[in-house]
Amino acid sequence: MFGLYTSVVRHTGIFGAYEAIEARRRQLLSSPASITVTDFGAGSHTGAGRQRRVADIARTAAKPPHLAQLLFRLANYFRPATILELGTSLGLTTAYLAAADSRTKVVTLEGCPNVAGVARETFAALQLQNIEIVEGNIDDTLAPALSALGAPLGFAFFDGNHRYEPTLHYFEQCLAHRTPESVFVFDDIHWSEEMERAWEVIKAHPDVTVTVDLFYIGLVFFRTGQPKQHFSLRV
Ligand SMILES: C[S@@+](CC[C@H](N)C(=O)[O-])C[C@H]1O[C@@H](n2cnc3c(N)ncnc32)[C@H](O)[C@@H]1O
Repeated sequence: MFGLYTSVVRHTGIFGAYEAIEARRRQLLSSPASITVTDFGAGSHTGAGRQRRVADIARTAAKPPHLAQLLFRLANYFRPATILELGTSLGLTTAYLAAADSRTKVVTLEGCPNVAGVARETFAALQLQNIEIVEGNIDDTLAPALSALGAPLGFAFFDGNHRYEPTLHYFEQCLAHRTPESVFVFDDIHWSEEMERAWEVIKAHPDVTVTVDLFYIGLVFFRTGQPKQHFSLRV
């Protein structure tokens, strides 16, 4: 935990992959384009309409650089063979997760076809070839995506439907594909009362050994042979 905290969570250095992804973020933030958005899940606190500016989606839905780069460092540290992301949006966190190791197979799930289209442009612009995007409601796409992985689930980032029931349902489905080395990352664990409750259930799950509450995200580990422990650390 000390190693993870000092060399991953508190790491302040700059990796080569950051600049190109942040350049793509700047491009999206200044995009004049608007797209029709199919709303899935809990939506956002900002009251999204159906027609949305790409720039607004980049500003409100995407993780900010310091959290997206923390995801990069987690993937870089653990080097999972497979990563599954629930909730692609414009593809910025997907890009960070995929850029950590080109050998990692990254599968990302997005419900809105137009949003997925912009994410595809992100992956092409960054020349990331280890990403597969699956369109459709996660309720329907998660099970087949897990089966199609062809290997155990090494790393999962839950950033789709920020509600109690779907979060726990997706967690349970992913559990069946984990190994003791898998890492699960939950976004926005303190975003709402529903997410607070979901996080408590996840922490208490018998398969879970160690959790790390980083406030904006929560890390979940399943390593055997260590006592159940819950850490609260600040980024
Ligand atoms: C917070 S955004 C993801 C942000 C992205 N991970 C990032 O930080 O760059 C959540 C995305 O999940 C999608 N989503 C939410 N619920 C979904 C569901 N049930 N099925 C498919 N997609 C869903 C939304 O369309 C939205 O694009």
